Amino acid sequence: MKFFIDTANLAQIKEAQDLGVLDGVTTNPSLMAKEGIKGQKNILKHYVDICKIVTGDVSAEVIATDFAGMVKEGEALAKLHKRIVVKIPMIKDGIKAIKYFSKKGIRTNCTLVFSAGQALLAAKAGASYVSPFIGRLDDVSTDGLRLIEDIRLIYDNYAYETEILAASVRHPMHIINCAQIGADVVTCPLSAITALLKHPLTDSGLAQFLADAKK
Ligand code: G3P
Repeated sequence: MKFFIDTANLAQIKEAQDLGVLDGVTTNPSLMAKEGIKGQKNILKHYVDICKIVTGDVSAEVIATDFAGMVKEGEALAKLHKRIVVKIPMIKDGIKAIKYFSKKGIRTNCTLVFSAGQALLAAKAGASYVSPFIGRLDDVSTDGLRLIEDIRLIYDNYAYETEILAASVRHPMHIINCAQIGADVVTCPLSAITALLKHPLTDSGLAQFLADAKK
């Protein structure tokens, strides 16, 4: 399973890259705003800066919601770097744009996916990645992991190549459960990845080894 970091924070992206387990980055307009990145020129430069740090795919989201606007923005984003994946919302014109980009060989990530039907449409349109938001489903008392299972079954039934990118992943159990179910990718904050390191028996065991080594 691939690990993506879900942030536009360059320091955290670098820390995750240095850890040696990072396969890519996802961003969205909220994450860019959180870092104070404003204006088209600065936003494009920020994507290039991210691409310089990581060796994997970097999802960059369009703001337009009409077909022509998404195509224009997506083409500009794709030209920035070969590892940019154009992130497109799951709406009618978004599906048309995904199909358009797929024919042109531009990779896409279909975002804001909350149902198996939406994921099926994204795969049929040729999305490279589909992003079901599991944490936000959990927030409204709906099982986000069940959605990942449903999409896995559907994609496997028809050998769709679209990768299931579990998004809105908030904590280490989400990561472990996604790995059990067979998500292709998880995207999450750095804190969820580093939380996988932790176990009190590791800490006490190491303390004991170090104490014994001094004897
Ligand atoms: O990858 C989607 C993500 O940014 C949404 O996460 O925690 O805002 O639901 P969250």
